[in-house]
Amino acid sequence: MEGVLWGASGFMLEAMANEIAGVSVSAGLFGTMADGSVVDVYTLKSEAIELRVIGYGARVVSLRTTDRAGEMGDVALGYASLDPYVNNKNAYFGTVPGRFANRIALGRFDLGGETVQTTINDGVNMLHGGLVGFDRHNWIAEEVAGGVQFTLVSGDGDQGFPGILTARVTYTLEGDTVRIAYSATTDKLTVVNLTNHTYFNLAGEASGTILDEELLLEADAYTPVASAGAIPTGEIVTVEGTPFDFRKPTVIGARIEEKNEQLTFGRGYDHNFVVRGAAGTLRQAAEVFAPKSGRVLTVATTEPAVQFYSGNFLDGTLVGKSGVAYMQRSGFCLETQAYPDAPNHANFPSTELKPGEVYESVTTWRFTAR
Ligand code: GLA
Repeated sequence: MEGVLWGASGFMLEAMANEIAGVSVSAGLFGTMADGSVVDVYTLKSEAIELRVIGYGARVVSLRTTDRAGEMGDVALGYASLDPYVNNKNAYFGTVPGRFANRIALGRFDLGGETVQTTINDGVNMLHGGLVGFDRHNWIAEEVAGGVQFTLVSGDGDQGFPGILTARVTYTLEGDTVRIAYSATTDKLTVVNLTNHTYFNLAGEASGTILDEELLLEADAYTPVASAGAIPTGEIVTVEGTPFDFRKPTVIGARIEEKNEQLTFGRGYDHNFVVRGAAGTLRQAAEVFAPKSGRVLTVATTEPAVQFYSGNFLDGTLVGKSGVAYMQRSGFCLETQAYPDAPNHANFPSTELKPGEVYESVTTWRFTAR
């Protein structure tokens, strides 16, 4: 059906057709859930990238890109089979956390004059959607031109959140770029915050820590947290003169051990950075360069912010797809998102979604090498 697109005047829309032509999509079995439902793996291939995604958690399970020598290598932490995704301690490898990524203090907030109470799964707080978040569901998959679309219908009251939320995540490849498009609709006032939780190691998923990789963040400000619980204080603070200033490319490990209360709370970087420019427009948020491999990842997003997480809670107990244990800081996440705990802070951009509205969000990952 796709592949031939005709313009109003009857000419084929060549650019579109080429884009689709340069990307192949194939499906195969990844595993079977305890209830017998099948989890397929979709392999998206362009000249520059091979991306593999599964419906369980609408998740990236591998992402192969070329280094400066032209060699392909996997830059995404994760597992080779379904079982550890289901049964291991949850590190949210590659998944789309939801319906509300990041934290909500005490899992409680006011919405339309009512108090909402969600499930609690991170000390006294809610993290990444609660006890049974979107990462724990087997989304429905459908192939689309150049990629795959995952759909999840989350019921009214799921994890305490009001409204039936229909969420969609579409992964497509465009040359050297992975595009992730999110959308959601609801039948009742609710909140939504979707992101992708891939841990990257641009030198290769089993190559040690990411401390020598250079990070640029297009962020003049971040939202400090109140304690090790990582709930924002509500302040929006300049990065100037702090270890959170990544406005010039800076090695991730350069200041991570500095005596700094925020770094102590996070056990390293686990903070929300305000992306410069207008939310709703696709603009660059971050760039990471790995001197060992030459790979460069450029992240652009329509989201207002990005959580930079330096893999602080990895502790060597999770063994990845190549049999190598993931030690602390062996991957980093750049979770493009709304601000954490936004439902409890009137000064943060709103995360409310009303019936009739469509939540839409796009993030791209471009891979080059130098
Ligand atoms: C997010 C959080 C971290 C941690 C990871 C999962 O990035 O901000 O604190 O919970 O998810 O381990």
